[in-house]
Amino acid sequence: MSRLPKPQPKRTQSRLAIPENIVILDFGSQYTQVIARRIRECQVFSQILRFDTPAAKLRALKPHGLILSGGPASVYGKAAPHCDPAIWKLGIPVLGICYGMQLMAHQLGGRVEKGDKREYGHAELEITGDSPLFAKLDSRQKVWMSHGDKMTKVPDGFRPVAHSQNSPYAAIANSRRRLFGIQFHPEVHHTPNGKQIVSNFVHGVCDCGRNWTIKSFIDHAIEEIRGVVGTDRVILGLSGGVDSSVAAALIHKAIGDQLTCVFVNNGLLRKSEAEGVREVFGKNRHMKLHYEDATGVFLRKLRGVTNPERKRKIIGRAFVEVFQKATKKAGAARFLAQGTTYPDVIESVSIAGNPAAMIKSHHNVGGLPKNMKFELLEPLRALFKDEVREVGAQLGLPREIVWRQPFPGPGLAVRILGAVSPERLRILREADWVVIDEMKKADLYYKVWQTFAVLLPVKTVGVMGDERTYDNVIAIRAVESVDGMTADWVRLPYDLLARLSTRIINEVKGVNRVCLDISSKPPSTIEWE
Ligand code: XMP
Repeated sequence: MSRLPKPQPKRTQSRLAIPENIVILDFGSQYTQVIARRIRECQVFSQILRFDTPAAKLRALKPHGLILSGGPASVYGKAAPHCDPAIWKLGIPVLGICYGMQLMAHQLGGRVEKGDKREYGHAELEITGDSPLFAKLDSRQKVWMSHGDKMTKVPDGFRPVAHSQNSPYAAIANSRRRLFGIQFHPEVHHTPNGKQIVSNFVHGVCDCGRNWTIKSFIDHAIEEIRGVVGTDRVILGLSGGVDSSVAAALIHKAIGDQLTCVFVNNGLLRKSEAEGVREVFGKNRHMKLHYEDATGVFLRKLRGVTNPERKRKIIGRAFVEVFQKATKKAGAARFLAQGTTYPDVIESVSIAGNPAAMIKSHHNVGGLPKNMKFELLEPLRALFKDEVREVGAQLGLPREIVWRQPFPGPGLAVRILGAVSPERLRILREADWVVIDEMKKADLYYKVWQTFAVLLPVKTVGVMGDERTYDNVIAIRAVESVDGMTADWVRLPYDLLARLSTRIINEVKGVNRVCLDISSKPPSTIEWE
């Protein structure tokens, strides 16, 4: 994740047969990615496409089923997102969820109107009709609702099969054409049997097997990488983060020494990080690793710079320069590999009220200039983060890397407020080391999203022995988050906080005060910058 513009080099095309899959058409629901994950938990491959994907393109993907997601719009609204009506003639089973069901009704001759009451939260579903979607379920189910509009006329050929207090048609079915609609959200945890409903659709209705496993992914990916790369060479920018590390391990397993990893030390890494990466990849896994220590370049360019945006720009530009030179030194290659993951490539539907669209623009991929003459190799493009970690674990990468906390590209520079200097880096690095060490000892490090130290641009008075000191302040930031977009501060145990404070002040020369950041995001950000 860097905030530089996205490069558009040529992407390699998959040469393998399309796996059994379910396509989700995204109408802008904040839960669309959750639907995709639920399907993959059923061991079926799923992909998300825009709501207006033409039926002909869908047919070519040979999906076993289609799911129409929820969304914030009203089907009868002027700018409402509609799907290609030709999808109803493809003969593929369809499940419409919330807005997806309303659209199904709207396009197939039913009626949807503004409800007098919004139904939001837990609801009791009463199943009244026979539907393969509700196989193995009792007739009363707790479900999660979130809708304002409601269906008032069921389209011809459909039967109502369930209702809730506020929705007379909470589920409809046309079993002959294998078209199903549900007003509630089976994908969220608040619908306790939602997983069974999703499984009923993908296994029961769509007849999918259980072919999507991490092992099958790895086998396919290796075959595909070998097919695409042939005898050519691949360069990979290794950052030490989860995604690039897993991509490196996977590509290395496929093509061995045809891969060269380029690891740039920008001088802004955490303590022992550069050594760790060299040890794991170079020494233990015997990968070709080109190590570029550019500490001097970065620190020279950053000298005296205090403005956070300027710091970011300087670091971004310097990285491109250094990386380009380093790749040249690493030797000619046809492919540039990146650890791009699925959330980076899903084209979020930008409909007012869809937070997913915002998430996308924030976590944009990229960081390399257009003039780099490589073809991109992105073997993790189809995977969610938890799947990437599982691939890493199955490839034998250490927990330290697989479960690593997110670390920003500009590194410690966004955690040093004010100017970056070797001395200030030393202070932050040592303090941060104590935080990581104590979090690990408390068995909390891998359980929270991020924990780190921040160096403030002020000095305060303290007393050590008989002497007054005038030294630096360290802030501790620990946050819980799912995607980095929102976060809450972690209620760390007092004893742990006490140990952190004592150790940082005693062990890190130049610090005489430790504070705790108790702000959530929003309104604060995770990094201080
Ligand atoms: P903020 O500070 O915006 O951060 O609340 C949200 C998440 O993004 C990480 N972050 C970055 N990651 N390059 C990255 O790869 C960056 O430039 C960058 N800036 C922030 C941050 O650590 C948090 O997880």
